[in-house]
Parts: sequence; structure tokens; C-alpha cells
Amino acid sequence: MSASDALVFFGASGDLAYKKIFPALQSMVRRGELDIPIIGVARPGWTLEQLRERARASCTEYGGLDEVAFAKLSSLLRFVGGDYGEAATFTALKQALGDARSPVHYLAIPPSLFGTVVQGLAAAGCAEHARVIVEKPFGRDLASAQALNRLVHEVFPEPMVFRIDHYLGKEEVQNLLYFRFANAFLEPIWNRNYIDSVQITMAEQFGVQGRGKFYEEVGAIRDVVQNHLLQIMVLLTMDPPYGRDAEAMRAEKLRLFRAMKPLAPEDVVRGQFRGYLDEEGVAPNSQVETFVALRLQIDSWRWAGVPFYIRAGKCMPMTVTEVKVDLKQPPLDIFDGISPAASNYVRFRLSPEVIISIGARAKRPGEEMEGEAVELVARHSAAGSKGPYERLLGDAIRGDSSLFTRDDSVEAAWSVVEPVLGAGPVLLYEPGTWGPSEAQVVVEGTEPWHDPQPEKSTPC
Ligand code: BG6
Repeated sequence: MSASDALVFFGASGDLAYKKIFPALQSMVRRGELDIPIIGVARPGWTLEQLRERARASCTEYGGLDEVAFAKLSSLLRFVGGDYGEAATFTALKQALGDARSPVHYLAIPPSLFGTVVQGLAAAGCAEHARVIVEKPFGRDLASAQALNRLVHEVFPEPMVFRIDHYLGKEEVQNLLYFRFANAFLEPIWNRNYIDSVQITMAEQFGVQGRGKFYEEVGAIRDVVQNHLLQIMVLLTMDPPYGRDAEAMRAEKLRLFRAMKPLAPEDVVRGQFRGYLDEEGVAPNSQVETFVALRLQIDSWRWAGVPFYIRAGKCMPMTVTEVKVDLKQPPLDIFDGISPAASNYVRFRLSPEVIISIGARAKRPGEEMEGEAVELVARHSAAGSKGPYERLLGDAIRGDSSLFTRDDSVEAAWSVVEPVLGAGPVLLYEPGTWGPSEAQVVVEGTEPWHDPQPEKSTPC
């Protein structure tokens, strides 16, 4: 695939553009990786000058303004204002595209507008040889995701569609996959014979940060489980791909998604933090979950019978994403009589620090055959690496789809969570806790929930 020769982004005046996209574009320019016209499309009444001011404010607040890179970015910016429902907007876009032959259109807009924009692009002749990048959430259940796929495919064939899940662009998340397949020692134990259970926790210390209206339409399962956390689970459990190309990787991911058993209401506990109902845009009797704890199974030769636990929540004690893979206990406890339960594990802290550690037991000095838990820690800083949006936008412009989600995988992921969307009661929990105490029921029979702790700052 050849590289795109113009980047169009819809939603240029929006929140995502302000917090993520302009800073990412500035970084790309700074690295010398972006030198094509960038056309921002937004509501009427704006001017190119306003767009530049907004971009400058965004980079200052979220990226650290780099005057040289920003001046270059500013010179690449163009602006098209207009209603997405009007043909004139797309005619103006066509003109702004000039002789660009293969633009990429980034839809940083609410999903309800995807259809209108895609059709507007087609009608104005802006979709030929073009790619489209679509933001999450991709649909709100299986049927709407399928409908959206059909709609997008009317104009863009699948190889031209790039569905973003920014977690896949994170250096830390890529490291998970790398660590698994770059080390031969892991593969022999990475299965049901040696692994007892797996926990994935994505905790955020903050609440919905003024996004009450958006959050009311999603809730934790749609917001982060169907996409980010199931993707992490796939990277953790998929088989090695046959081949190095994007499609080989995507085929293996799909196999894993399809092997996940659809969730049942008894596998899930949903919670809501006290105070959510007072947020602006939230219904007074909202049953939307800001916390979820669930148990998932994978029906495959490698994973049958291993429980996977996922927990995600807002207003938790800290902001952290961590995976803990507990290994089975040794068959006999011949030394210390201290149960070594859960002392053999592999831990991946994906944020805020990047840490991979292996939990083991080692003998304490002395005559007794007594041990203690130790951790072998590998740590690296992701400083200087590309942010997820920078990475993903660069990949889409180059036409590399490896880190984007294919239509069939998105639909398979919806099939997994669909039976529990909105199912069961939402239980109240206090902000600053690890969710409602009922969440323990989910892990009954295995280890209790592993609550990540602030990391000690000792170097490795
Ligand atoms: C987004 C969710 O996709 O991911 C947010 O909509 C969540 O609710 C965010 O806070 C977390 O992403 P990151 O990169 O800040 O960890």
C-alpha cells in the first residue's frame, strides 16, 4: 500500500483533537514523519486561524509546545468548515484536497455521524483510493457494529478501514506481545498445565471527568472491556502467528476472540461509584456501571478451564493497568510449610510504569529450609517512545494495518460481552476503593483479587 498524501480529520474542534490529535501531529512533525497537508474539518464559523490557535493551545497544554515543529505543523494545516449533513462541506473538502490522490480520512467524531460522513465523502468523490480511520466505540453492541461495518463497507473496502483502539498503539502493550514471543522459556508453561488463573486490572483514580453524557451511553464494559481489555487478553493468550505480515497476526487474534466464551450474567458484577449520579449529563436513576469485575473462559486446547478475571473501574485507589498470571503451585510442599500460594507468577504492569516481573520463592539465609517471596524485575521506561496516537496515525498514513482491529474481530469481541450489557444490578461503591465487596464472588475458588500497589522505585 502506498502512503497517503493528505490527512483529513473530522472533529477538528472536538475534545479528542484537542487532547490527543494535535499533540500527536506535532510529535510526528518533530520526528520528520509528517509532511502532507492536514485538513481539519469542523463546524461552520471557524477559520483556519482559529484552528491554528486551537492547535497551539492543545500542544501547549497536552504535548509541550515545540515552536519549530509547531510552525511546520501550522503551515501544513488547512481548514474546511461546514455541516456534515451538507453536500457543500464535502465539495469544499474535495477542493481543499487539490491533487491529493490517496487521502486518509480520520473520523474523530461520534459514531452516530459516521454514516453521514462516509456517504458525504463518497458522493463528493473524496473516497476513491482513500483510507478511513474510525475511532472507538465501534458500535454499541453486535447488531450496531455489524450495521456500521456494512455502512462503511459500502464505500471503503475492508483493507482501507483502520479501526483505532489506542491501547494497541501503546509501547507497553506491544511489549506484552514481544515478551511472550521473544522468549523461549515462557512458551512451555504458557498454558492450562501450568497457569492457574489470570487477572487483568485497569483502575483509574479519576471519575468520568465531565464526560457524563458520553459515559451514560457506554459504561465500563463498552468503554474499556470490549476493546482495550479484551485486546490485552488476546495478546496474552493468542498463538504465535504463522508469518510476519499483518494478516497473519490478525488471523490469530480472531481465532482467540472466537474461542472466548460469551459472558453470562452470573460471571459479572457491575458497580457504580457514589457520586456518579451527581455528574452533569447523568440520569438521576442511571444504571450505568463505572466498575465491572468479570470471569471469562477461553475454549481452546491451550486454555480450557483457566479462569481469566478482568476488573475495570473509575474512582479506584490508584491509576494502574496490571496483568497477573498466577502459576500453579508445586505438587508437594516439602520445605517450609508456608503455603506458596500465588508466589509463582508473571506480572505485567502496563501503566503508569512498564514492569515485567516474575514472582518466585527463594530460601532465606539460615539453617531452616524457609523461604520468602522474591520478584525478578525487568523494568523499562517508555520515555521517548511514540505515544499511541502518534504511532497509530503514522501507521495508518503508511497503510500498515497490523495494529488496527479488523471487522470480524470487532464483531467477535461484541459477541463476548453482548449477553451482559446492562445485565444485573449496579452495586454502589465508595470512591477510592477497589469497587463493591461483592466483586470477590467473581474470583471465588481461586486467589482473591490482586490489588496493584504503588511501585517501589528501586532500579533493576
Ligand atoms: C478510553 C476510555 O478509551 O481510554 C476512557 O474512553 C479511559 O474512559 C481511557 O479513561 C484510558 O486510556 P489511557 O490511555 O489514558 O490509559
